Parts: sequence; structure tokens; C-alpha cells
Amino acid sequence: MTNLIPHHLLDTANLDRALVETILTRAEQYFIANRTEQKHNNHLAGKTVVNLFFEPSTRTRTSFEIAAKRLGADVINISLEQSSAKKGETPLDTAGNLDAMNVDAFVIRHAENNMPHQITQHVKAHVINAGDGTNEHPTQGLLDLLTIRRRKGRIEGLTVAICGDVAHSRVARSNINLLSLFGANIRVVAPAALNAGNLPPTVTVINNLEEGLSGADVIMALRIQHERLSYSMSPQDMDQYIKTFRLNHDKIKLAKPDTIVMHPGPINRGVEITSELADDPAYSVIREQVESGVALRMAVLDLLVGK
Ligand code: NCD
Repeated sequence: MTNLIPHHLLDTANLDRALVETILTRAEQYFIANRTEQKHNNHLAGKTVVNLFFEPSTRTRTSFEIAAKRLGADVINISLEQSSAKKGETPLDTAGNLDAMNVDAFVIRHAENNMPHQITQHVKAHVINAGDGTNEHPTQGLLDLLTIRRRKGRIEGLTVAICGDVAHSRVARSNINLLSLFGANIRVVAPAALNAGNLPPTVTVINNLEEGLSGADVIMALRIQHERLSYSMSPQDMDQYIKTFRLNHDKIKLAKPDTIVMHPGPINRGVEITSELADDPAYSVIREQVESGVALRMAVLDLLVGK
């Protein structure tokens, strides 16, 4: 256990294992409580949490809102459409002005890498990164770790195949850092064009789906991040991708019989995964990831912002 709770949660790269264990343990308690009538406490009573989203989001923003409300906080949601960004104000000024209202925490999503990091220089409040560009999405990585650990009882030694657009995925980056910290065998399974550069030495890169899935304990599908591609994929490119990289029941036969299939959402049904597989409770833990998300974010808010 660690007593060194940081002021902000910006990246997974520098998190130490003891802190992650503390977060997961707390999140496991909230996961159980969230299935009962006793979902609420007052750990954040009197605190103000601002969800400051400069990019669209349904799952992550709602998840943080529910988490903060279950802890008794006041929650303000600000999305780009309602913000002053359209009048030319910089994100740093927007955050600085809200900070002047003595809020306690910001949950920030922005299309630019490191924007939450920059904002920390302009505010007193805690900052939690809810996804910055192609960089990181720490709470998604943590909720995925929670989901895997709840299902498999461990992380160490598991073979995790992260499949699809790894190059543009902040989710993949956060997962790779955290899974490495806990000793998983990580495979990045993607066509060469969607492979990330600069991967840690713990990661094996495989350009073939069948090979990548072989013997996997955990399969993680990713959406193609079309909004971040420097080119637009032609219908032929898409057909080829679907033919060679779409996850389906046939392909996952190559994985361990008790493999689990994950996806951070939003799913593009029929592209990176078939609907039948995404909805098959024998393999898919996609909805459980969403459930884990609220518990995990309660744990993070509680530890960082709570009394
Ligand atoms: C992801 C994101 O926004 O980074 N979604 C999420 O937060 N669960 C992944 C995506 O957009 O594909």
C-alpha cells in the first residue's frame, strides 16, 4: 500500500504498482456496492467536480458524473458546444476561470495531446485526464485492468492481444503501460499501417490476426480512430480490414477456450468485431467494462479528491 496519492491523474506511465493496487482494491469494493441499494456515500460531500469535455463523449463523461454523484459531490458538465471555446477562449483560460470559482477537481478530455497536463499549470484543483488526443486515457486503462483482474484473478503472465488501430489509440497506450507494470505478455495485433511506433520492449508486434489471437487469455478490440487518421480509408481498405482483422467466433477459436473479449467502446459493429461476438456473454465483457468504469472512477475521485 502507498500513502503517496498524487494531486493529479494524468498518465499511467509513471504510476507505481502499489498505488494502482490501492486504486483497484478500492474500486473492487465500489463494484460490489454499486450492485446494491447502498451505492451512495458522502466522501466527496461539499466538493465540486467539473467535467470539462472539449471532445464528444457519452460513456466516459456519464461514468465520471455518476461516480462523482455517488460520492456526494456537486457535478458540473461542460461540453464544447456550451463553452466559450467558440468565442476564441483558450482551454487554459476556460479552466483557469472555472478554477477561480474554487472548484475541487477537473475531469478533462481534449483532442490535443497533453492539454490536461498544461491545464495543471493554470489551476489549483485536481486534474484527471479523461483522454488527451492519442496520448493517454488512464481511467480506461485502469478500468480494463480491474475488469481483467476480476475475471481472471490475476494479470501477471496473461497473454493480452490488443487488436486494431493501436497507432491512434490512447486506450491502447494506457493499457500497455499498466499491463506491462503488472507483468502481462502483451501483443499488439494490427496491420502495419495501424501499428504504433515506440512500443515498450515488453510488447510483441504481430501483423496477422490469427497468429496474434493464438493462445490469448484476453482479446481487446479497438475502434479505427478515423478522426485521427492522416488519410481517409477507402471502401476497399475497409473491406480488406474487415476481411483480415474483424474479430468473430471463428477467429477467437484460436485463443484460450476461456478467453474474454473486451472493447472500450464505442463499437463499430461489423467492422472491428461482429455483433454476434460483441453480444455473446460467453466471451464478451464489454458491458462489464462499463460497469467497472463507474467503480474505478469512484475509487480515483475518492483517493484524489476525497477528504
Ligand atoms: C475511447 C476514447 O474516447 O478514447 N472511448 C472511451 O473513452 N471509452 C475509444 C474510442 O474513441 O474509440
